[in-house]
Amino acid sequence: MENTMTPTLKRFIVLEGVDGAGTTTQLRRLDEALARRGIAHLVTCEPTPLPTGRLVRQVLKGEVDARPETLARLFSADRHEHLYGPGGVLECLGRGDVVVSDRYLFSSLVYQGIDCGPELPRLLNAAFPLPELLIYFDLPVEVSMARVERRAERDIFEHRTFQEKARAAYEAVLAEYADSPMRIVRLDASLPLEEVWARVAVAVGDLVGAGIVE
Ligand code: TMP
Repeated sequence: MENTMTPTLKRFIVLEGVDGAGTTTQLRRLDEALARRGIAHLVTCEPTPLPTGRLVRQVLKGEVDARPETLARLFSADRHEHLYGPGGVLECLGRGDVVVSDRYLFSSLVYQGIDCGPELPRLLNAAFPLPELLIYFDLPVEVSMARVERRAERDIFEHRTFQEKARAAYEAVLAEYADSPMRIVRLDASLPLEEVWARVAVAVGDLVGAGIVE
């Protein structure tokens, strides 16, 4: 894939991993830590809470039927709103905020790549800018599925065989971006929560140019 020409967005950080990898917990910690430091920021996620993202969630829950290719398009439509809509990622970055997103286009390359093959998700996501930093939460599927199985609700992707494919697909997608200008930090997300947090805090602290933990 042609990644080297894709621009990166300064101060834009993305957290990625299979379901149950712990990105949402770490996003909350980042929100608190950045706020304590007085660093202007936005923590956000995909699918978004916007109408586009709500439709995606309905498909994920099985409440609305859609072809995998339609879902791939819905994710990219939601991403477009997320980036370019009012109060979105670009607007916040433009005024100098740090923006941290729980999932971004890499999720589409991985998840929709499994369901639709690689071409369509690549095409739909080729024009989106890359983050400055991608933090990848890696952990064995046994551990992530044990976490997912404790949840009250599961979405259409939260099954062992799919998650095994997703973990392998993340490796392939990360390898494709190895030479891109985006910095990639890999974390062992099976470590205790505090140790994962320490690594996240260092990576984000490096980017914002200040320690973010007292
Ligand atoms: P979440 O559980 O992290 O909120 O994410 C919702 C699900 O949507 C998760 O299984 C990953 C999946 N997903 C995709 O399939 N493609 C995408 O582009 C995104 C952002 C998420």
